[in-house]
Amino acid sequence: MNESKIYVSKDAKEFHIMGKDFSYVFYILKNGQLGHLYYGKRLNPSNIYSQKAYYETYGNTCTVFENDESFSLDIIPQEYPSYGTSDYRQPAIEVIQEDGSHITDFKYDSYTIYEGKKQLYKLPSTFVHKDKDSITLEIKLKDYIINATLILSYTLFKESDVLVRSSKIINNGNKDLQIKRLLSMSIDFKSSNYEMLTLTGSWTRERHIQTYPLHKGLQSTSSTRGTSSTAFNPFFALKDNLANEHTGEVYGFNLIYSGNHIGQVEVDTFLQARVQQGINYFNFSFLLKKGDELESPESILVYSCNGLNKMSQKFHKFYLNHLIPPKWANCARPILVNNWEATYFDFNEDKILELAGLSKKIGAELFVLDDGWFGKRNNDKTSLGDWYCNLDKIPSGLKGLSEKICNMGLDFGIWIEPEMISKESELFKKYPNWVLQFKNRKLTTGRNQYVLDLSNPAVVKHIYETISDLIIKTEYISYIKWDFNRTLTEVGSLSFEPKHQQEIAHRYVMGMYELYSLLTKKFPHILIEGCAAGGGRFDSGILAYSPQIWTSDNTDAIERLKIQYGTSICYPISSMGAHVSTTPNHQLNRLTSLKTRGDVAVFGVLGYELDLTSLPDSELECIKKQIKWYKEHRKLILEGTFYRLKSPFDGVNGNTAWSVVSEDKNNALVGYYKVLENTTHLPPNLKIYGLKPDKIYHLIGTNLTFDGLELENLGIEINSNLLSKLALIEDFKGDFKSIILEFKAK
Ligand code: GLA
Repeated sequence: MNESKIYVSKDAKEFHIMGKDFSYVFYILKNGQLGHLYYGKRLNPSNIYSQKAYYETYGNTCTVFENDESFSLDIIPQEYPSYGTSDYRQPAIEVIQEDGSHITDFKYDSYTIYEGKKQLYKLPSTFVHKDKDSITLEIKLKDYIINATLILSYTLFKESDVLVRSSKIINNGNKDLQIKRLLSMSIDFKSSNYEMLTLTGSWTRERHIQTYPLHKGLQSTSSTRGTSSTAFNPFFALKDNLANEHTGEVYGFNLIYSGNHIGQVEVDTFLQARVQQGINYFNFSFLLKKGDELESPESILVYSCNGLNKMSQKFHKFYLNHLIPPKWANCARPILVNNWEATYFDFNEDKILELAGLSKKIGAELFVLDDGWFGKRNNDKTSLGDWYCNLDKIPSGLKGLSEKICNMGLDFGIWIEPEMISKESELFKKYPNWVLQFKNRKLTTGRNQYVLDLSNPAVVKHIYETISDLIIKTEYISYIKWDFNRTLTEVGSLSFEPKHQQEIAHRYVMGMYELYSLLTKKFPHILIEGCAAGGGRFDSGILAYSPQIWTSDNTDAIERLKIQYGTSICYPISSMGAHVSTTPNHQLNRLTSLKTRGDVAVFGVLGYELDLTSLPDSELECIKKQIKWYKEHRKLILEGTFYRLKSPFDGVNGNTAWSVVSEDKNNALVGYYKVLENTTHLPPNLKIYGLKPDKIYHLIGTNLTFDGLELENLGIEINSNLLSKLALIEDFKGDFKSIILEFKAK
């Protein structure tokens, strides 16, 4: 088998990036720009494919050369296209020049290949552990008229089989350049015979899977909200029409960015598909003066010829190995109790200590004090920005309270929302100019709060110092829930001149990353859980600092099936905060058993968010058992290979199944969730993937054994016989029921 590496043709005109499962080929066109040749299943790297590239002549097209009717950029697949010289499709780059022209002509200049990978300057990036695990190709292109350099970077992560792309433009000339668009990647596929899969939603309905066939014209997943958003996640995939979870070709793309993003596919009149991803060009413009440069975020490209599960597994492993901070990637994340749904704003020190005492009793490891502990915050109208303890509520202060909790044998964590400011706050009185705004325009509120102007370095510095001070003085903080409860409006900054105002949305995101980076560097022992009114900023940018993210404010177990299932399309199980809450559920009023709530939440980073003081001893005992079980299986769940087996988005009853399999394939856990009972249905039959075909597995709690081949092809029937062996006949009757099966190799 050919080695995963980057092959360059002898004449240095064709570049072939070859991973374990894929080939990615591009070449230099005769006009000096780059042409795209192929992205898909592996090709033979000793062939030169561009030699066979042939361009048909079509009527009514504009062409680059007077004597060549066939060379029209409107048809030729390109690697990083621009608008204005015969290509009428979406460009990857757009530069407005002082003379008003948008035209660019970036011609190939040179290439370099090196082991390892560079980090981006102001944006989070994927990283390598050892240089030889990856290889980077940089292509330098030049536009001599505007005197600018464009660098396209491609890093192949050999073991993960992932390609990471990004681009950078440098203004070498004396004239200003306005960068209107600098996408992270662009690929022209010859065919558009694919379905587009996007993750869409809203508050409490995050990352539902949406799939539709590509159609002629432009289709996209994007955000203009200043954040990656619940509406459309930065991830999207293209899959062949027959691909499913286990078979078929799938191309996944995710952007490491937490602001306005766009992933778009333009199917042209010849039914070719241009696939692109990057910072959203809507309301974006970045001024580059002589010597300035602008870098795009990284775009992660994952190819699978074995369906969606394989694509997701590659993303999961890649994120754990090359994006999430190594200290947290594969560590046993603490089982937490959070007081939010237990008390909301209505608590005092005694109540918190009582909750913490019970948290210790049930076996939790971390107690999290949520919103309401600071300033005068007894509701959501006040005090964001005033990060000092409310002594009326907590007379011992944060240090005293946290010390008491740590003395109980628990870790201690707090909630903050550092990017926000309440109108009713000391901070706002002092620094009204520190809010994102345009002079003379009324400020729009969201949850009664404004957004701090993180494009202004002075604001970032102030928040950094305030939060650092809080952490240092409190001494016992080992976890922070970093919230962000509204999207951006009036995205302008009083600290920048008018000509820079269209940079502010991007500068905000860079300021936010700077804050994350400063705090995580100073306090590497603190585990940060990202949050944004639930899962409103669940993206790869945040994962670069925060290994787990609160998945959704919807804690209903049945709704969580869809949310966790959809999130797993790209993000690892260990990144999803998943809590057991009370019944009836606060968001939906739905009644579910403690078993079902636990069986859903254990496929994530487990937590409890309900008033433990109101529970009968029998339920506390049951929670204690759940926690004990989770501790025994935590490594397998958080580090195992995740398989989606049955989708809540298919079928009429929403029944769902998923599994995790250990690296050595000796252990597996399968979660099956019966959402709606049915009088006539046959017992569900589950096919369990990823085990060793000829190994014998014991179904724990029964005397049954199966071999791996049988489990994958014939499957296992959840019938009355099996349920009675597991003593679950009664428990499994009716709606909203669940079962976890555990297999161990003999
Ligand atoms: C957001 C979070 C919740 C909780 C509240 C507190 O909505 O998603 O989990 O922390 O804020 O105000």
